[in-house]
Amino acid sequence: MIARLESLKKQFFQEIAQVREPGELSSLRDRYLGRKSGAITALIRELGTLPAAERREFGQGANELKQLIESRLDEAREQLERQTESARLAAERLDVTLPGIPARMGHRHPITLLLDRLQTIFVSMGYSLEDGPEIETNFFNFDALNIPEGHPARDQQDTFYISIELALRTQTSTVQIRTMQRRKPPLRIIAPGKVFRRDTPDPTHNPMFFQLEGLAVDRHLAMSHLKGTIQTFVNRMFGPKVVTRFRPSYFPFVEPGGEVDFSCISCDGQGCRVCKGSGWIELGGCGMVHPHVLEVVGIDPNQFSGFAFGLGVDRMAALMYGLDDIRLLYENDLRFLSQFPL
Ligand code: PHE
Repeated sequence: MIARLESLKKQFFQEIAQVREPGELSSLRDRYLGRKSGAITALIRELGTLPAAERREFGQGANELKQLIESRLDEAREQLERQTESARLAAERLDVTLPGIPARMGHRHPITLLLDRLQTIFVSMGYSLEDGPEIETNFFNFDALNIPEGHPARDQQDTFYISIELALRTQTSTVQIRTMQRRKPPLRIIAPGKVFRRDTPDPTHNPMFFQLEGLAVDRHLAMSHLKGTIQTFVNRMFGPKVVTRFRPSYFPFVEPGGEVDFSCISCDGQGCRVCKGSGWIELGGCGMVHPHVLEVVGIDPNQFSGFAFGLGVDRMAALMYGLDDIRLLYENDLRFLSQFPL
């Protein structure tokens, strides 16, 4: 009997040494300790058939073997679990020292970069920022600005109409009217934004472009204030050597009206390809706010006067970034756009 126990024990230890998976452990347990067909279970059942003298010794041996098998099975299970766990950890191991995948960063649009600079300069001169809608009524885009029906600027040729009453604004001067309706003088504002005109696209024209409107209204404002303001702006923007010149021109909402140029920054006014040989670069329109415009918004032209200007942002961008075609600004070509800073 004892010899049978010994050989079972030997056999068990051989078998458990082969076990590689937890599933094999349970079938091994069944084969030795299972209620129905376990080898040890069968032996213990046989106890009753033995003579009393042998029963005790054999019973003890059988129980000891049963316990030994149980504890070996438990140990083996634990060991297997530990192995699976460390295999899993090894497989999931991350090398935190590996360089990451760099996130692709966007770039600011050249117009955005330029508008930021323009705003910084005008804000430092006491101007605040105003805004207006891109879809406008005839009142703000034309009537209030002294542009009567029949004026060429109202012609279908130039304006994108949405209905008889609504159009895409053709100028940021609309914001002059909106601001003066809402706020009392003294006023100093700038209004950068998109404007739209039915132009055929070419290297210097695009149907959508940017303007920066400026407006100041106060007592005793004169042309000299306008000229000093533009000169100061040009020096902060392009440097201390740059000079300006004012040419008379006509805009229905200013009187007198003019156009302002600054000396070419590429050739110091000598004449080059950038300024087409003239030594001057156009900055935009300007003038003293027409008394009739002040009346329309309920400001007394006998007490207050104002000046206004509308600067061409795209041309400035072309100059600063050396572009020979302003349409590059609106084609969304990443090869172009990604050359600008973040
Ligand atoms: N709004 C005019 C234009 O689009 C420019 C301008 C603005 C002229 C302000 C005078 C005063 O051309």
